[in-house]
Amino acid sequence: MTNKEPPKIEAQRTFPPLDESLYDLRPQDAAFYKKLTGIEDDAALKQHILDVQAKAYKVAPYGCIYLFFFTRYFIFTFVLSLYTNDELFRRKLSGLPAYQQVLRLGRECKNPIFLDIGCCFGNDIREAVLDGFPVARTIGMDLHQELWNLGHDLFKSSPETFPAHFVGGDAFDPEILAVAPPASMQTARAPTPDLSNLTSLNPLHGCVSAIHATAFFHLFKEDQQLHMARALAGLLSAEPGSVILGAHTGAQEKGVVNQVYRGVEIDMFAHSAKSWTAMWDGEVFEKGTVKVEAQFREVHGVTMGGDERYPMLFWSVTRL
Ligand SMILES: C[S@@+](CC[C@H](N)C(=O)[O-])C[C@H]1O[C@@H](n2cnc3c(N)ncnc32)[C@H](O)[C@@H]1O
Repeated sequence: MTNKEPPKIEAQRTFPPLDESLYDLRPQDAAFYKKLTGIEDDAALKQHILDVQAKAYKVAPYGCIYLFFFTRYFIFTFVLSLYTNDELFRRKLSGLPAYQQVLRLGRECKNPIFLDIGCCFGNDIREAVLDGFPVARTIGMDLHQELWNLGHDLFKSSPETFPAHFVGGDAFDPEILAVAPPASMQTARAPTPDLSNLTSLNPLHGCVSAIHATAFFHLFKEDQQLHMARALAGLLSAEPGSVILGAHTGAQEKGVVNQVYRGVEIDMFAHSAKSWTAMWDGEVFEKGTVKVEAQFREVHGVTMGGDERYPMLFWSVTRL
């Protein structure tokens, strides 16, 4: 981790005090947490999660920590049910349409690598590992090492019992992640680096099979989002089927989204499905070399609570 001052959370205008009443663990979420923590008692589990949340909120008061996004399958259930007409109770990462491709890469690649950028506690990595992605081939990356460490507290694990790798630092710092051109099948494949002592993502250029980025891009302005997309594209393997996927605040027409959701006021630049697709297919990758799927949905009700609606973009970028 570099010693530089951590960037401020510019995309958020308000940082309300924690509100226990937002804790709403559905049976499917509870099952995930009970399985991983070994805590069976509902009250004890709630207290455990609240304790970790309070510590994390002191490290970085993100809306996603405040809203307990790390505990729920939340919005994707609703969206996925639109795709499949199925009441699927899936968790956050596994609710993304390209998730099965991530698992396939984990099963079929010789040296698969799953990177979760802006991983916070690493809850999405745990989901992929539970579904079969080899833990030793996963990497979490976050500005705050403390959040990753709190992930071990949250799931009652240790680096020995959950040997996923972690790289701490600012993803905009070129020593941590420099922009490199997307790898191509024509150029020699980079040798797979040893993941054990990574302090930077740069040795992974052209090597990563799947990259997950949820609630991450929307923290940054338009030019920074383009920079980050280029940086992640440079990490992705040239193998057809390699994928970058995620979800974040979206818009019908690209522009700044300013709204209050449950006391959290956001001020975020958001792409539309059209502009997000055009950015990846043409600006970031050479046109025609990737398949971009992007769906804009206003999610509400069932999993977001009440009538408040939230504009989301669900997306994946797959190498052809
Ligand atoms: C809103 S949280 C989302 C966490 C997780 N991806 C999820 O979906 O629940 C954003 C995460 O990105 C991390 N982050 C913010 N800016 C970053 C940066 N410049 N470099 C690396 N991580 C960053 C934060 O520390 C935080 O854990």
